[in-house]
Amino acid sequence: MDLYEPYEKLVRIVVLGRVFEVPENNLLLRQLQYVAPDIGSGRYCWNGECRYCEIGWRKGEGAEQPALACRLPGQEGMRVTRAAAEIRYNMSDALAAAPRAED
Ligand code: FES
Repeated sequence: MDLYEPYEKLVRIVVLGRVFEVPENNLLLRQLQYVAPDIGSGRYCWNGECRYCEIGWRKGEGAEQPALACRLPGQEGMRVTRAAAEIRYNMSDALAAAPRAED
């Protein structure tokens, strides 16, 4: 079974100041797994209960909003400004390797 919902292109998101290209039309946690395969071995419930996937995000000049990455479709231009320890742990290699966002 394919992990990802069908997609035709990658979209750009910023996670904790680093730039990633992830498959459109997918939940944010799945998009993070695309660039950080360790997410697949994390303790995530994937159904809104464990809260290990809690993040804060914003788009443009908007205020930061809390969300669960397993519930939120990721979208072009979003910035994840805060992430639960489990996500930061699973993404540590990917974050270290990814280019810094310009601003
Ligand atoms: S993965 Fe458990 S709440 Fe999102």
